Amino acid sequence: MGERLPKDTSKVDMERIVSLCKRRGFAFPGSEIYGGLASCWDYGPLGVELKQNIKNAWWQTNIRERDDMVGLESSILMHPQTWVASGHVSGFSDPLVECKACHLRWRATEANGQNCPQCGGELTEPRMFNLMFKTFMGPVEEEASVTYLRPETAQGMFVNFENILATSRKKLPFGIAQIGKSFRNEITPGNFIFRTREFEQMEIEYFVKPGTDEQWFDYWLKERLDWYVRLGIKEENLRLRQHGKDELAHYAKQCYDIEYLFPMGWAELEGIANRGDFDLVQHARYSGKNLSYYDEETDERYVPYIIEPSAGVDRSALALLIDAYDEEKVEGETRVILRLQPPMAPIKVAVLPLSRNEKLTPLAKEIYTNLRRNFTTQYDDAQSIGRRYRRQDEIGTPFCITIDFQSLEDNQATIRERDSMAQIRIPINELEETLRAKLAGEPLSTQPLWATRQK
Ligand code: GLY
Repeated sequence: MGERLPKDTSKVDMERIVSLCKRRGFAFPGSEIYGGLASCWDYGPLGVELKQNIKNAWWQTNIRERDDMVGLESSILMHPQTWVASGHVSGFSDPLVECKACHLRWRATEANGQNCPQCGGELTEPRMFNLMFKTFMGPVEEEASVTYLRPETAQGMFVNFENILATSRKKLPFGIAQIGKSFRNEITPGNFIFRTREFEQMEIEYFVKPGTDEQWFDYWLKERLDWYVRLGIKEENLRLRQHGKDELAHYAKQCYDIEYLFPMGWAELEGIANRGDFDLVQHARYSGKNLSYYDEETDERYVPYIIEPSAGVDRSALALLIDAYDEEKVEGETRVILRLQPPMAPIKVAVLPLSRNEKLTPLAKEIYTNLRRNFTTQYDDAQSIGRRYRRQDEIGTPFCITIDFQSLEDNQATIRERDSMAQIRIPINELEETLRAKLAGEPLSTQPLWATRQK
């Protein structure tokens, strides 16, 4: 291990994360060649891999490893009545105020009843601003063809409750889960990928018998908090915060946020709400369908209550990047490391021949071709080996394989581990098996993924 820098880099500032993301291809400003589009970000090659790792881990834990959960992919565009029934047309609004001097707009809660946070100017009276993106279906832009980009994936699961019940033969309690994009015309987006107008959700709607809802609510709070810890986020940077009555969403009986200590302070990573029977009752009323459940065990019919753990993919990615970011001094130079657990690392293995050479290159390429069948692998033969290690450390690659001239003689390669910088030499034909064992760790659902991870 190198010597840790004296300053506390565990609370890295957002600028450093944004800069790393841009420099190394995690995320770029959206439509950058046109000057960018406010609060839109494009995920680059490493960002896509990171997000995919998060989504895979969530899907694995919440669907594949459970008997009581099924997946869904519902469409982004839904019948406009959906949003009337759900209460979003009438109730999904933020009070907006505008500065009379600089014309910046704020959520009234941000301005706190005072003057403009930017220039101190006088603010207008609050008016309600609906956060849904409106659009038109078909070629005619008229009121009858208005629809919305969904502001939550949840409604797709409620309107498919009957379909899933009929086809999956699930009994209560059971849940539906989906991952997908949602859209909110936020008044003040910001903090990089924390609050954007287009974002990706991972949502669970867990249907339970009324009366058991509080017990299931507590269960999901614990389950979801544990998941972030298993992903590698430090426990001290996570907390639960209960919503006050005045901040509850229109559908919620109760809600807690799982918050992460972002550079700008504690903020929501995931919301866990008890939505009661609000949604199914509303959809039954507006669609005319019976959305109750017949409980064979008790010979009763009732409308299930819903517990909803609702997580953001982009926020999870940001929290992982911030939490994993570290700097240390090695031989007088600063080494930047993303201490991501291997399952989250965008690149698992880098193959680095000591130099470009007519004998080394073919061997290194052959190893690379074999390894990339099983692991996301990069090949890098540009610049000194030290610089190449630093490049991989900075993007969180847990293992580098170095091929040197000795490898041509003894058929061995060096594995270098990111955090400890420890190196071992092993036979080339054992590389795949060794890497597989080192990367696999324990199953996601039971243990920290990488037991040797340093805090
Ligand atoms: N479905 C809850 C939310 O999107 O906030």
